[in-house]
Amino acid sequence: MVKPESFNDDEGFFAPCPMLDTFSVPNNTACARLGLLARIGRFLSTEDNAAAALSEVLRWLYRDQGYARGVVTLLNDAEDEISADITAAGVPTDTGSLMRYRPGEGITGRVIATNSPVYLAGVQPQDGFLDRSGLRQGLDLSRLAFFCVPIQYRGKAVGALSADRPLSEVADPEGDLRLLAEVAYLIGPFVQRRRLEDRLEAYQRVHIATFDRLVGRSPAMEAVSRLAAKVAGVDTSVLITGETGTGKGVLAQLIHDLSPRRAKPCIEVNCGAIPESLVESELFGHEKGSFTGASARRAGVFERAQGGTVFLDEIGELPPGVQTRLLRVLQTKRFERVGGSETIVSDARIIAATNRHLEGDIVAGRFRSDLYYRLNVFPIHMPPLRERGKADMMLLADVFVERFSREMGKTIVRIDTPAIDMLTAYHWPGNVREMENVIERAAVMAEGDVIHGHHLPPSLQMNRYQTKPGQGGPEEDSAFADRVANFEIELITEALKDTSGNQSQAAKRLGLSKRMIQYKIRLYGIDWQRFK
Ligand SMILES: Nc1ncnc2c1ncn2[C@@H]1O[C@H](COP(=O)(O)OP(=O)(O)OP(=O)(O)O)[C@@H](O)[C@H]1O
Ligand SMILES: [Mg+2]
Repeated sequence: MVKPESFNDDEGFFAPCPMLDTFSVPNNTACARLGLLARIGRFLSTEDNAAAALSEVLRWLYRDQGYARGVVTLLNDAEDEISADITAAGVPTDTGSLMRYRPGEGITGRVIATNSPVYLAGVQPQDGFLDRSGLRQGLDLSRLAFFCVPIQYRGKAVGALSADRPLSEVADPEGDLRLLAEVAYLIGPFVQRRRLEDRLEAYQRVHIATFDRLVGRSPAMEAVSRLAAKVAGVDTSVLITGETGTGKGVLAQLIHDLSPRRAKPCIEVNCGAIPESLVESELFGHEKGSFTGASARRAGVFERAQGGTVFLDEIGELPPGVQTRLLRVLQTKRFERVGGSETIVSDARIIAATNRHLEGDIVAGRFRSDLYYRLNVFPIHMPPLRERGKADMMLLADVFVERFSREMGKTIVRIDTPAIDMLTAYHWPGNVREMENVIERAAVMAEGDVIHGHHLPPSLQMNRYQTKPGQGGPEEDSAFADRVANFEIELITEALKDTSGNQSQAAKRLGLSKRMIQYKIRLYGIDWQRFK
């Protein structure tokens, strides 16, 4: 008989079982079992490392009740494969990968699929016992009593708890199954709570990290955040594409900050800004005297970013020779310093970005296709600002107003309606960067606490209404006419807003006749109905 260590529950919440104090009781008394369950319940309510906590519970099951080779098997999140197997001793990783069954496969799989317990009084070949864990190799299975009970959450099987004991010691198999089922009742909600907590933490981490830095709630930007959060956890190379100023640099940094590498360096190299002759040494380093000016050995970016991330911006500008060397780093993780023979192993994660169409560069022979495919394992496209919708534009504008207002010690609180119209109608060829600059300029120009249309640059003013062909004179004249027109539009729009779209009242406010305001509204195509 397996002799468990005596059960010692000195920190118990409940008063100790009187029998335990007065007699030396067998470990299978109701009292000892109840004490064990209470202790497991209390323990699981405070633990946060699920695997460690469960293996501790399995250890107690063995020590106090003699259930040997206990295994907790859990369905993965997608519920299509049993992926986590925990034993008291901890399953070595290589066995862990062997212990993958599908629900229904083996006894464990059957228990999960049918959500009901199994008891084998001696394991027979026809029982479908797989023992993928290898825990029972060399044992006489026919002399083992094997128990397996479902682990449930809200009545649904999410895993199984199994263990065995010598058949000769089993007097009350029903009682054994009942005890294990009670333990499984405690494990189910614990596992689920830890999963939900993990998910919530991950979600919060992503949202806190992305909220200020990657402003935008449009479906297109939500998709970008989701992809970033997904890929951050793995070492896969990422290729970020998108027009200038869409936030490719912001996204690269964000992926690094969300990744387990966040405490290690993220080094950015702008491949287009470094002279061709120096890119190679910048990336891979050089040995002393390897070229004129190399007065000392220098570590390159890949060497300095060990454990971290290398962000290769404007990757399309990389000279052909360097493309070849980079491909080798991606394939073999190995490189040599310029002028050196020592092979260095790099474990840096690579994020690349480009605003060019690399496919076109491949066709033109400027970019290696094999390097492209190696980099493009996980592409993320940053949508241009004009495709993100008005809500995202205004979200960004507000963030920038708030930021520049604070930085300049101003108290700008609002963007007026005409200015909002101009900001949202513009096509933003320079994307977020352009908007950032436009708002900074407007914040400088603003005298009071409101940004008006005339604080925005001429490029946005031109957009307001289409000058009829033949109407404009020389360029300066038309610019003047535009500015006058914009000012009129602004005044009329504000007046209509204040009078809830009442044209007569708005005209009165502005000292215009009703006929005049109607004419101007038609001329400028002002949508007065929306103020009603
Ligand atoms: N979603 C966003 N929320 C807040 N700020 C943003 C966002 N996207 C970009 N920015 C800001 O816009 C500016 C341009 O972003 P970034 O430099 O990352 O663009 P890019 O795509 O790398 O441009 P380029 O192709 O010219 O290098 C930065 O100042 C950045 O902080
Ligand atoms: Mg950039």
